[in-house]
Amino acid sequence: MKNIRLFKPLIGNEELKEINKVFKKSWIGYGPTVKKFEKLWCKKFNIKHSIATNSCTAALHIALKSFNFKKNKKVLVPSITFSATAAVVLYCDLQPIFVDINTNSLTMSFEDLKRKYTKDCVAIMPVHFGGHPCEMEKIIPWAKKKNLKVIEDCAHTCGGTYKGKKLGTWGDIGCFSFEEKKMLTTGDGGMVVTNNKKNSNIIRSLSFHGWDKDPLLRHKKSSGKQNMNLKHWEYQIKKLGFKYNMNDLMASIGIVQMKKINFFNYKRRIILKKYLKGIKLCKGFIPAYPYNLKQSSYWLFSIRCKRRDHLIKYLKQKKISTSVHLKPLPLHQLYKKYKSSMPNAQKIWKEILTLPFYPDLSAKNLNYIIKQLNIYDSKYLK
Ligand SMILES: Cc1ncc(COP(=O)(O)O)c(C=O)c1O
Repeated sequence: MKNIRLFKPLIGNEELKEINKVFKKSWIGYGPTVKKFEKLWCKKFNIKHSIATNSCTAALHIALKSFNFKKNKKVLVPSITFSATAAVVLYCDLQPIFVDINTNSLTMSFEDLKRKYTKDCVAIMPVHFGGHPCEMEKIIPWAKKKNLKVIEDCAHTCGGTYKGKKLGTWGDIGCFSFEEKKMLTTGDGGMVVTNNKKNSNIIRSLSFHGWDKDPLLRHKKSSGKQNMNLKHWEYQIKKLGFKYNMNDLMASIGIVQMKKINFFNYKRRIILKKYLKGIKLCKGFIPAYPYNLKQSSYWLFSIRCKRRDHLIKYLKQKKISTSVHLKPLPLHQLYKKYKSSMPNAQKIWKEILTLPFYPDLSAKNLNYIIKQLNIYDSKYLK
């Protein structure tokens, strides 16, 4: 028996066909396919501006940088998140303030957010961790009152709706990840979405070396007989930018993947229902998230178990892959000096483990995992 993978992208012939198209054009760098992908994204999210990047880390970095906050100001981030959420704060010469998590969802606690706030705070980066929505209906009005900018880290979700509003469109800016394990993939990649024209212009420029003119639009504008005298090659560098743009090869995969995202989310919901039903009678586990499945877009299936490390070892012997999402960032050396009180994160992270979860996880493998969880529960946890 082969190991059951933890994550798996669902890619196939449709993606290959679209890749073939860009190969035939011999245009695989930054070009019209990226523009097409961005346009489709605007339409899907009903948002004015979408900027495709080569990762979500890049997206978060230039999203935060676009506000030009003063050095050493503070940004509120959850204590349990992937390192990129906090790393971009440091990239921008700002300081992360780690907020504790909710015990029932692993997302940023609104109560602790209010406690950790000081006058030096300039922004919040809520992470819809595992795909579970943060309490945006509380965070957004409070952030407005405090004049805090909100950048939603949507690396773990895509297409999910919370209280009637798409995740990624609640804050000033939303950032998505298309890394290979995520909700949809372009190999690596990301997307920034915003309705703010000023931020969008800065972000686009920062994503391409800080140039003041988008190279594609510049060439397009200066082509045609009436524009013979326009200098298609001219631009100004006004800011120190980065090489963060997406390319046509990635975008060709993304265009097909985004058409499938509703299907992916549907398949994920079916698998989640089976998981939840399958472990219902287990006494020793609880789901790590509330899993409100309506209009959901969950990336992780995680459970909490007091004997987490022992269970991981057991599942490894049974060829079932697992992981831990995630150790609180202030427990890592780099972030130690920013550590503050986070009792929930410190307790809960020792209990969480992630199980295999992806749209084409087979019924046979899913049943096998559920069976092993039940065997473990009755043998070691009763
Ligand atoms: C919460 C979160 N934010 C940001 C990122 C960075 O995404 P990327 O790998 O696309 O840079 C990740 C990656 O896993 C993540 O989990």
